Amino acid sequence: MGFAKADEPGEAELILLNTCSIREKSEQKVFSEIGRIKKLKSKNPNLIIGVCGCIAQREKEKIIERAPEVDLVFGTLNFSKLPEFLKELEIKGKITRVETLIRQKTGNEAINPSQPFSLNIKRENGIKACVTIMEGCNNFCSYCVVPYVRGPERSRLEEEIVGEIKNLAQEGFKEVTLLGQNVNSYKGKTGNGNDFVRLLERVNEIDGIERIRFVTSHPKDFSTELINALASLPKVCEHLHLPIQSGSDRILKLMNRRYTANEYKDKVNILRDKIPGVGLTTDIIVGFPGETQKDYEDTLKILEEVTFDSIYSFKYSPRPQTDALNLKETLSDEEKSDRLFKLQNLQKSITLKKNKAEEEKIKEVLVESESVKSPDKLTGRTRENRVVNFEGDRSLIGKTIKVKIKKGYSNSL
Ligand code: 5AD
Ligand code: SF4
Repeated sequence: MGFAKADEPGEAELILLNTCSIREKSEQKVFSEIGRIKKLKSKNPNLIIGVCGCIAQREKEKIIERAPEVDLVFGTLNFSKLPEFLKELEIKGKITRVETLIRQKTGNEAINPSQPFSLNIKRENGIKACVTIMEGCNNFCSYCVVPYVRGPERSRLEEEIVGEIKNLAQEGFKEVTLLGQNVNSYKGKTGNGNDFVRLLERVNEIDGIERIRFVTSHPKDFSTELINALASLPKVCEHLHLPIQSGSDRILKLMNRRYTANEYKDKVNILRDKIPGVGLTTDIIVGFPGETQKDYEDTLKILEEVTFDSIYSFKYSPRPQTDALNLKETLSDEEKSDRLFKLQNLQKSITLKKNKAEEEKIKEVLVESESVKSPDKLTGRTRENRVVNFEGDRSLIGKTIKVKIKKGYSNSL
């Protein structure tokens, strides 16, 4: 439509806030950001402010009611209609367009997913690309809003994905990350559990692509077939993000995760057996309703037992519509913060130890860019997804090279 990327918000004629609803904090951030942006409207009355994504999906008209500076609201199922919305805005002034997600846990799952994948994506980095392979989630973990804002699982056609990645390879991209809320549930031609492995096999064949990653896997669906594919397909990187959430079986049950801590550990053991040195990261929630000191200690214990390379950890945040909302919260925010802080400290020491163990090794690194912190250095990642910062010439960007690790730090090598 003739739009081009502005260098800074003050120059923009259209500002879109693509929003996340996963925790309450991310919701609060959006409204404070709108507060900042609205000042730009007094300088440029033609500025269009749009809010899209998961918060828009949930709040619909309420967004413009709460923040009248917003002109356009659209949800998670109609991204591709943005050009139509902008045309409509010229006539109508303000619009909210959110497709209804009729979604109940046990109810009719036939909603209107409205071709979520016919997006025309313009990518900028030129080396690494994310490619959506499926959307939505049928798992209904009791704390999680995703099934309500993103709808039921639906997969993109295998041919379409492979075609998109072939084009990326031709444009010079070296790495793809296949994206989905639960990639193991990807349904392709056969509709059975191994379709994701088949997809990996096909992407592995594409000339020019050097590395394949994927997020996120659910432990209950993480299969031996997938472990075998990780071990045998040369381009699939030796890294797995496998959210465990808690180390307590009681809490895992309340979370509706459908695995036990031991089942999780067994899978990790098989994985490490087949792929020694595989990178492993996870997500943890502390302070779930009813989490006792013992439950919390079980989580600390599993961190020590499994020794993840790094973790993403969060305080439990009650979300609308979810089952956990009916459970009484038993911890104050302070107690949750305290648990989170101690857990993160424990993980810091584990990560540092693991990074130190990399010293003196020679690692294969895909060079991504100049380092943001120190532009005289380059930055890239190992196959296990560890960040490496090193001295080198800019001409190495986009190349896969061998780097000898001199030192392991808490966040990088
Ligand atoms: N509160 C805190 N963390 C949450 N996550 C999902 N829902 C919530 C919630 N209500 C975390 C989980 C998930 C990650 C993407 O976000 O750990 O794996
Ligand atoms: Fe949310 Fe992931 Fe559970 Fe789906 S599998 S409900 S996205 S935490």
